[in-house]
Amino acid sequence: MDVRERIQTLRRDIATHDYHYHVLDAPQISDAQYDSLLRELRALEAEHPELVLPSSPTQRVAPRPLTTFDTVRHRVPMLSLANAFDRAELESFDRRAREIYAGQVQYVVELKIDGLAVAVRYEHGHLVQAATRGDGETGEDITANIRTIQSLPLTLRLPLTLEARGEAYLSRAAFAKLNEERAEQGLQVFASPRNAAAGSLRQLDAREAAKRNLDVVFYALAELGEVDAPPDSHKEALSLLAQAGLKVSPLRQTVDSIDEAFNLCLEYQARRHSLPYDIDGIVIKVNTFDAQRQLGATAKSPRWAIAYKFSAEQVVTRLLDIEITVGRTATLNPTAVLEPVAIAGTLVSRASLHNAEFIAGKDIRIGDFVYVAKAGEIIPEVLGPLVDRRTGAEKPFVYPANCPECGTSAVQRAGEVAWRCPNPACAALLRERIIHFVSRDAMDITGVGEALVANLLAHGLVRDAGDLYFLTSDSLLKLPRLQARSAAKVIVAIDKSRGNSLERLLTALGIPLVGTRAALTLAQGFGNLEQLVTARYEDLVAIPDIGDKMAASITEFFALPSTHTLLDKLKRAEVNFTYLAKLRFAGKLRFTGSRTGANLAGLTFVITGTLPGLSREEATALITAHGGTVSSSVSARTNYLLAGEKAGEKLTKALTLGVPVIGLSELQALLKS
Ligand code: IVH
Repeated sequence: MDVRERIQTLRRDIATHDYHYHVLDAPQISDAQYDSLLRELRALEAEHPELVLPSSPTQRVAPRPLTTFDTVRHRVPMLSLANAFDRAELESFDRRAREIYAGQVQYVVELKIDGLAVAVRYEHGHLVQAATRGDGETGEDITANIRTIQSLPLTLRLPLTLEARGEAYLSRAAFAKLNEERAEQGLQVFASPRNAAAGSLRQLDAREAAKRNLDVVFYALAELGEVDAPPDSHKEALSLLAQAGLKVSPLRQTVDSIDEAFNLCLEYQARRHSLPYDIDGIVIKVNTFDAQRQLGATAKSPRWAIAYKFSAEQVVTRLLDIEITVGRTATLNPTAVLEPVAIAGTLVSRASLHNAEFIAGKDIRIGDFVYVAKAGEIIPEVLGPLVDRRTGAEKPFVYPANCPECGTSAVQRAGEVAWRCPNPACAALLRERIIHFVSRDAMDITGVGEALVANLLAHGLVRDAGDLYFLTSDSLLKLPRLQARSAAKVIVAIDKSRGNSLERLLTALGIPLVGTRAALTLAQGFGNLEQLVTARYEDLVAIPDIGDKMAASITEFFALPSTHTLLDKLKRAEVNFTYLAKLRFAGKLRFTGSRTGANLAGLTFVITGTLPGLSREEATALITAHGGTVSSSVSARTNYLLAGEKAGEKLTKALTLGVPVIGLSELQALLKS
């Protein structure tokens, strides 16, 4: 098979697997198998850049940010929906419809997912444009951001020309993760999944949008080119969208009466909290296009559809106090202490107050009755005070000028809303850092929880995370109430974490702005911690996805004396400092333990072609983990060319220069030498 055909086959197969995974939710192959298809395609495209097409699955994320969004005029205006808040309003909607339309009225009932309306155009099956609703007449061109959504096909399964309308949104899980990362980075958290989705679609940098895990569900066909049998109802139109490979409204039930529709509204109102995304209502649409045409539209909304809106679950309770806690990045976080109140199925006694600006802006006072809601149905937050219910006894909150734990004057960095404790020795900071170090996404040391960390610090057994590795069962037994068995388990868990791959350690170090994703990028890019510690700013920004702020934060972090103390301890404790690539290739080459030799020290490698079952990144990591260097071009100084299948120009050059060409088995032999 020639390269062109192989590339086409790979693209088609990957698109099919994307469809099964993201749209049907029924993957047909393992992640590892999928990754290897994508790797093969990437490698082929890298060698044949002339064959790269925008519809290739490797081209979802634009490499450069836009400077502004273009304006898009909607060919069919994007209307909004009239709302109903109770049964009576639904009944009057139904009555009007039956008055105007003489035939049988059937409805389609759908979820109203709470995100942002988007219009997506395909021509002859190819994605050409996506736009926001804007004012309904014109919106913004967000094609680059929409392309990053994995469930959205770049090429339809049918070669149709159409415009589909749908809702772009963030699942609750994606929202929670995003906010967690933002809080970690001292950035303002989003108030709801909807705000987060809006913020993500308005990113000028698609690489940023790609990290947000947006999704899109389609609920209407706005335009359709010539087809043999055009749909004549909304239900058929949705089926056509589904056949074309788009993800459509999960609920699209036809009913023959408004009563049945209302029952579904009640059913979903009761079940809404158990859905993986926020819905703010149910949409009821007249099914046949014939009836829709006769009913027509007002300037703002169609007369053939209505949204039954749920009332947002907001409760009122009393704000008893405001506590300031110190986060691991030293931010001073205000938390509301509330009179316990049930909301969306749980009892809430603490809620977020975001930051000092929020409290001052809303004039929230201690003793106030406040509205509380769950942002994204997960994190409770205070919305604002009920000013009418003030008695005069409420006390304005004075944001502390000092850290509540160590008393150091708080500082605010330029461009940040958060206040921070600048004292690197602050007890709260030490505690939060260790808690972060042992947490699941970091070193994952089970058995070392918040209470044990506080206890260890209080008894002077540890000062930083490095000290954990020097604990013994005997020293642990000095702590009150700790059984010998649990002490032994703790020691085993700590010991096990020594073998973690570098990305876990990097996450655990808590470098400001570096979350789990960046940690992995850094681990893959540098291979081992020593390389990263000595990396210059320029080396860091040269890595894709590492921006200037993060690069500055990393160099700053590695220049701190406290970092050096910690790293020295970790090194003495023989904690693994290398990236252990998850080597999937059939057990041919494998790291046997955490320690890797330096048997490739002083050797420079160049990699070319497709290595069986091993990505470039993995091969690079393998070499750098053993002290070797990987360079991108072959020169007289290259010691070895590691060549796989379909090696191209580099192979020719190596042969000309007399650079030894080796395969994976020879590399394996070198590693063992
Ligand atoms: S139909 C002409 N169906 O709700 C009718 N809208 O104001 C256009 N929405 O902006 C909307 N789920 O973003 C429709 N199943 C659904 C929907 C839905 C969410 C949003 C949409 C629109 C707003 C209504």
